[in-house]
Amino acid sequence: MYGQPFSGVTMEFTIKSGNIEKLRSACLVVGVHEVRHLTPAAQQLDKISRNYITTTLKRADFRGKAGQTLLLHDVPRTACERILIVGCGPEKDLDDAAVQKIISRIAFTLNDAGIKDAVSCLSELNVKGRDLHWKVRQTVEVVSDSLYRFDLLKSKKNDGAVIFNKLAQFITERGSVAAAKKALTEGQAVARGVELVKKLGNLPANICTPAYLANEAKTLAKKYSTIKVQVLEQADMKKINMGSLLAVARGSRQPPKLIILNYQGGKKTDKPVTLVGKGVTFDTGGISIKPAQAMDEMKFDMCGAASVLGTINTIAELKLPINVVGVIPATENMPDGNASKPGDIVTSMSGQTIEILNTDAEGRLILCDALTYSERFKPDVVIDIATLTGACVIALGKHASGLLSNHEPLAHDLLEAGKQSCDRAWELPLWEDYQEQLKSNFADMANIGGREAGTITAACFLARFTRKFRWAHLDIAGTAWKTGHHKGATGRPVPLLTQYLINRCNS
Ligand code: BES
Ligand code: MN
Ligand code: ZN
Repeated sequence: MYGQPFSGVTMEFTIKSGNIEKLRSACLVVGVHEVRHLTPAAQQLDKISRNYITTTLKRADFRGKAGQTLLLHDVPRTACERILIVGCGPEKDLDDAAVQKIISRIAFTLNDAGIKDAVSCLSELNVKGRDLHWKVRQTVEVVSDSLYRFDLLKSKKNDGAVIFNKLAQFITERGSVAAAKKALTEGQAVARGVELVKKLGNLPANICTPAYLANEAKTLAKKYSTIKVQVLEQADMKKINMGSLLAVARGSRQPPKLIILNYQGGKKTDKPVTLVGKGVTFDTGGISIKPAQAMDEMKFDMCGAASVLGTINTIAELKLPINVVGVIPATENMPDGNASKPGDIVTSMSGQTIEILNTDAEGRLILCDALTYSERFKPDVVIDIATLTGACVIALGKHASGLLSNHEPLAHDLLEAGKQSCDRAWELPLWEDYQEQLKSNFADMANIGGREAGTITAACFLARFTRKFRWAHLDIAGTAWKTGHHKGATGRPVPLLTQYLINRCNS
């Protein structure tokens, strides 16, 4: 049951063009700007129906506020059963956030109304600084995200079931259809990668163990001939002296796994992009145990790992002509008679010694060995993705992932990819000045750097293991999941990483 690679909604997306008057659909979605300023599609329908739309909007006091909706039935002389009018706000204010709000309102409205399929005319909207490709792809991503439910472990699945599952996007210009289809394919691949990350993130730690993640990787390899998987066991890690990773795994009954995925879409000789994802399937803090409050959320501490699996799934689906290696150190962080203790000193695979002053700073301890291991792939660049520090949530909140890098052009490319895909990151400095905070009296370094600049000192720790290659670190502690009423994994930063990889293929 939990073995199914995907849960959630299976939405069907298509592109349509032709004559809007003849469109047969259960529901046609058209936009109206504030104040009652009809978009071209709405104007056309108004004309066919002999001003039925304008008259009704006035009668219904519909002004066109962003996200406002009005469902009309049997509009005279139109071919579709219903028309959903959606407010798009003032035309000049239509930015990314407004579009996202409008699209997700449409998804909820259609679903709540029990409508199975619809045709949207919103690709004609003028969005500040965005082209057709972005609008089509964003629509797919936002609709999929809005209607996602995690009900794998609920016994009654029909409770709040998703009814709306087919969306066509209407393209006015025939010449743009091919471009729109390409955007649709990208959007669907990203949405499926995101969905995989959400599933793995939302699964509880008693199901989603290191072994479960390894099996998920093997499932990907079965699905795509371009993906190969290798899993290193505890004994293998001992042989290559991964003393730091093993120190975290000591306290756990679940054996750790080092999962390596190899996606080959490019030439054999192309240097790979290596993605390293933190896979702590549950972080109790270890002997430096965390308080009980919200500790359940530490099941999400493997979201970096999940984003590596999700991104590789997405690019395999898109058949990107590029080589990508995924490296996932997976383990639990548990207190136990055999667990590492504060003050313990371990030797990492790199040979550098580490004094573990806080067992809750475990992410960097598993990542450092995975980063050293990555050297063997002769990577062009290495990007690690980790729910690494609570300090990052304090600094940036849940809107941006933290970005730190030893290579300015790489940082720039990732920031740009984040802007393009609406999955933004924000850079923090990785200056040598901060390194002194990691001084240890007894080893080469300590695994914590004190209260100040917690996100930066965590990255400074990793930087000591990445001197041999171009590297960037994404701290996704704030962006990987939502808390409160909508608690759940977000699937970030799959859109950012996919965009970065697509851009590399195009340059
Ligand atoms: N997984 C946590 C980071 C985290 C905490 C993410 C809360 C999201 C919400 C990480 O392993 C951790 O415990 N970090 C410590 C580091 C500290 C001991 C230096 C932290 O941030 O408190
Ligand atoms: Mn921790
Ligand atoms: Zn952690």
